[in-house]
Amino acid sequence: MSLKITGLTKSYKQGTESLSILRNLELEVGTSQVVAVVGASGSGKSTFLSLVAGLDRFDKGDIVINQTSIKNLSRAQMTQFRGENIGFVFQQFHLISHLTAFENLSLPLEILNRKYKDADIMQRLEQVGLGPRADHKPTEMSGGECQRLALARGLVTQPSLLLADEPSGNLDSETGQKVMNLFFDQVRKTKTTTVLVTHDLELAKRCDEVFVLKDGSLHLQPRKYLDL
Ligand SMILES: Nc1ncnc2c1ncn2[C@@H]1O[C@H](COP(=O)(O)OP(=O)(O)OP(=O)(O)O)[C@@H](O)[C@H]1O
Ligand SMILES: [Mg+2]
Repeated sequence: MSLKITGLTKSYKQGTESLSILRNLELEVGTSQVVAVVGASGSGKSTFLSLVAGLDRFDKGDIVINQTSIKNLSRAQMTQFRGENIGFVFQQFHLISHLTAFENLSLPLEILNRKYKDADIMQRLEQVGLGPRADHKPTEMSGGECQRLALARGLVTQPSLLLADEPSGNLDSETGQKVMNLFFDQVRKTKTTTVLVTHDLELAKRCDEVFVLKDGSLHLQPRKYLDL
């Protein structure tokens, strides 16, 4: 699964004002590559990921995911395409509050009419240390537990493109390290093309390439500057 973005431009309308967020952003991610996007708070990282996931519309440019130009997809086609191909780990989790951890994790498979065994779901919960929380709803879980569930959900459909927004942001450093080890194990093993937004330079360094989002576009960060 490759990702090619050209001339991506996005602004938000605020009353009569237009707030320019992304300007002619370009990015190419090869199959199985894992890239990091870092950048100041408010620079547009979450906006960028939501455009790539087709969750929001852009003004100009194009996003091509494995030869499919997503700007030409209808809303229904985009929903189907996203379900089949893209895993998303949201910064604010977006778990479904009236469903248990188990149900939150199996829902993406139900929606796609994919066959699965309860034991597979339990195994994925156990991998992120949530076996004992299978029957808990998100309101009955800690922030870090919700984060781990969101991460497991991003991977449950075995997407070929994974978009992750600060997946370790709500975890203490020890748990964060464990969960991110799991994250890297899984994306490397499954050769999942991945865009990881993070504030954590240590995490960014584990990716194949690191880009800084600044002034509306992405700038490749030479590795030597990450070691300072
Ligand atoms: N729906 C919206 N309408 C108007 N402005 C928005 C909207 N969503 C985001 N913004 C603005 O766009 C800018 C970029 O927001 P975004 O959430 O993409 O930043 P970010 O880089 O992810 O920041 P953080 O590191 O804090 O998560 C911010 O200034 C924000 O206020
Ligand atoms: Mg953000």
